[in-house]
Amino acid sequence: MAGNITFTMIKPEAYQNGHAGKILDMILSKGFRLSAIKILNLTSKQAGKFYEVHRERPFYGELVGFMSSGTILAAILEKENAVEEYRKLIGSTNPANADEGTIRKAFGQSIQMNAVHGSDSDENAAIEASFFFSELERC
Ligand code: CMP
Repeated sequence: MAGNITFTMIKPEAYQNGHAGKILDMILSKGFRLSAIKILNLTSKQAGKFYEVHRERPFYGELVGFMSSGTILAAILEKENAVEEYRKLIGSTNPANADEGTIRKAFGQSIQMNAVHGSDSDENAAIEASFFFSELERC
């Protein structure tokens, strides 16, 4: 059965360029509920742990450097079938291939600076949500 939460980050370039409000508006207007939210700066160690699954990929070092280069916004989103619904809303990993109306089409600059992260499975949504938020921080 599909789960009802997903995890997202608004990445440093999108946050720094002042797009957080518009991105949250797109998310909320699609019927997602915010059940946890925070802004923070990741250390490279924290970013490296979060993206551990990509450790062997050639872009891992750059990805970790980028994700620890500035403020991000992290959130847990709730909706029926949240992982799939949110992946539709964010669009392709590479903004150049993203459909009109998606967050990455509107705000992504490159495959690395692609505005937002979204969990790719229910299992990873649970892992990623707990990486950032304690039980007390979730509503
Ligand atoms: P995200 O959804 O945060 O998950 C992993 C990230 O790795 C992805 O978004 C991209 O920003 C990044 N990524 C994936 N493929 C590449 C690539 N070929 N080159 C650089 N970054 C990549």
